[in-house]
Amino acid sequence: MRDKIENIKEAALAEISAAPDLGVLEDTRVKYLGRKSELTEVLKGLKDLSAEEKKEIGALANVVRDEIENGITAKEAEIREKGFAALDETEKVDITFPSKKAAVGHIHPLTKTRWEVEDIFRSMGFFVADGREVEDEFHNFDALNIPANHPARDMWDTFWLKDGNLLRTHTSPMQVRYMEENKPPLRIIVPGRTFRFENADATHESNFHQVEGLMVDESGKLTVANFKSVMAEFMKGLFGKELEIRLRPSYFPFVEPGFEIDVACPYCAGKGCRICKMTGWIEILGAGMVNQKVFESVGLEEGKYEGFAFGVGLERIAMIKRGVNDLRLFYGNDMRFLEQF
Ligand code: FA5
Repeated sequence: MRDKIENIKEAALAEISAAPDLGVLEDTRVKYLGRKSELTEVLKGLKDLSAEEKKEIGALANVVRDEIENGITAKEAEIREKGFAALDETEKVDITFPSKKAAVGHIHPLTKTRWEVEDIFRSMGFFVADGREVEDEFHNFDALNIPANHPARDMWDTFWLKDGNLLRTHTSPMQVRYMEENKPPLRIIVPGRTFRFENADATHESNFHQVEGLMVDESGKLTVANFKSVMAEFMKGLFGKELEIRLRPSYFPFVEPGFEIDVACPYCAGKGCRICKMTGWIEILGAGMVNQKVFESVGLEEGKYEGFAFGVGLERIAMIKRGVNDLRLFYGNDMRFLEQF
């Protein structure tokens, strides 16, 4: 029996030493130490031996078991170590190797246009104010001289919320909010997102942006001439050259008188082209002298102040400036479009 155990040990140690990987090593462990292994079988025969022999053979079997276990542990460490060493060879990291370039995005053309507009007005001393997208009926309509049932509300149909608030249809409510908090003299622009219940087409979306402008001072200090010169400066900043400006009478309940501003087409110098639809002029914004009723609604003394206000579509400016013929392109997230800017 002693010889048998010695033979098992020899065979096991030889197989362990030859095991090429952890899988084979595990098979070897099961073969020599598992429940059905030869060594276990030999130990089962101990019961037929004399007490003396049992003790001796039993002790020998335990020593051999330990030796096999130790052999396996040592071999396992050796195989793992070799594996790591091989990784060192095959997976070298060259930290000087040029990395893959991450895709770098850029500012959206609408944001760029907003920044440009902000810069132009800041340079004229205007403060850039921020408004809210969810408005109440009072600030979006009533305070701007558009009471319930006024036909002008049809032009500015929007999305009403269950609590009675609405998504603002223009940035004009900020005229009211700003004057509720600040006394004239003041000059602000308010860029921001606006919403309307609208059928989308090449020049209309239900989600778009406006930039509101408001300049107010004591009566007699600000006239339409001042307004015109601010607009001329705005157009010069935007298109990089002096452009003729034309005022046409128009109607907005919160201004009196009201006008639309046209600018001589910057692409054909007024001769007529595709962009100005052969008219030589491009309609750019709605504006007017602030209606005294608006001053009244914010608690300012009637007749004491005068000023002008305007509202311009940001997409409209971006389209003219960047030669884009469909406003919906700004919202399509098509990289072929966006990468041109
Ligand atoms: C207004 O919203 C007035 N609040 C502007 C104003 C302010 C007048 C201060 C007087 C004094 P209007 O509805 O015309 O006016 O819109 C102004 C500009 O917003 C338009 O000229 C156009 O450029 C843009 N706009 C209007 N509706 C849309 C739309 N659905 N999609 C994209 N742009 C639009």
